Amino acid sequence: MARHIHIDHNRETALRDAVHVLSSGHPVAIPTETVYGLAADATNPAAIARIYETKGRPQFNPLICHMANIQMAEDHAVFDPISRKLANAFWPGPLTLILPLKPDSQIHALATAGLDTVGIRIPQGFASDLIAAFGKPLAAPSANSSGKISSTSAAHVEVDLGDKVSLILDGGAAPVGVESTILKVETDGSVRLLRPGGLVAEEIERILGLTLARSEKASATIEAPGMLASHYAPGASVRLNAVSVEKDEALIRFGGAAIAGEAHALTVLDLSPTGNLAEAATNLFDHLKTADASGARSIAITSIPETGLGEAINDRLARAAAPRPSTRAS
Ligand code: TXA
Ligand code: MG
Repeated sequence: MARHIHIDHNRETALRDAVHVLSSGHPVAIPTETVYGLAADATNPAAIARIYETKGRPQFNPLICHMANIQMAEDHAVFDPISRKLANAFWPGPLTLILPLKPDSQIHALATAGLDTVGIRIPQGFASDLIAAFGKPLAAPSANSSGKISSTSAAHVEVDLGDKVSLILDGGAAPVGVESTILKVETDGSVRLLRPGGLVAEEIERILGLTLARSEKASATIEAPGMLASHYAPGASVRLNAVSVEKDEALIRFGGAAIAGEAHALTVLDLSPTGNLAEAATNLFDHLKTADASGARSIAITSIPETGLGEAINDRLARAAAPRPSTRAS
């Protein structure tokens, strides 16, 4: 069991003790507005190696480097005018920009997987205060074992990684609930959506006055190397666009309406009874974990609209449902 400190009740202790652990080269689980992150000093190779080890990541995927503010971001990355506009419009917030790494940046190659680009984001609230107190960028993937569902509460982190991390900062339920949107501005000025996420594409397109170029969905070869087809995998198999519940299934629905066979479901959860996509995003990973814990062979999930945050929700669900090496059913 890790030590837990609640950031609202013991903010100063949380900051001080987290800085202490980070300075010793060890990871700390921290709340961000999207999901919980497993954070470590982005300039310290031993600390970054401990992130990979803790998550059991099979290979070195590039990690997002979190900054306290734009000045810190500019110390490490080169901003083109469009990226700058995006940063000004949406930071702090659930947006990651892939930018050229400055040659004199102290971010270690283990965090960027040796690429000449770096994924950067300024998170909202406590996380950026912690980075400011620490004084250096924090590399932080989602705080979950590799391939498993991301954590949106300190309790999720404890269940998954509690025996591997010494300190978990508790900030309550992550308000956004899905990871940041990842964008890359190309040299021709087009803007590519590498991962749909907590910042909705329509809002980005409105600010930029252009349509985002989208990468192929759930492919094993898309640019963000961590974006493998099978990801976010619960133990049970996942069946999408369900219109009825089958034997030994748990049900996750959306919009409050009952579906056929629901009375037999091992558990019935609704992402948002009122059909609110922001609420659905907040509940997504928690409901997947709860449905999985019911011991169901399969989790049936009704269709979710593809608009707004629905794009990120459907992306995560497609990955949760993608074929994978081993499931409880096989
Ligand atoms: O909301 C979030 O983004 C959370 C919180 C903790 O900030 N973090 C997160 O990190 O989701 P992670 O490591 O689970 O996902 C990072 C993604 C991966 O798909 C990785 O391949 C991509 O970002 N990425 C990072 N740096 C990149 C780069 N230089 N080029 C392309 N993709 C990159
Ligand atoms: Mg992740």
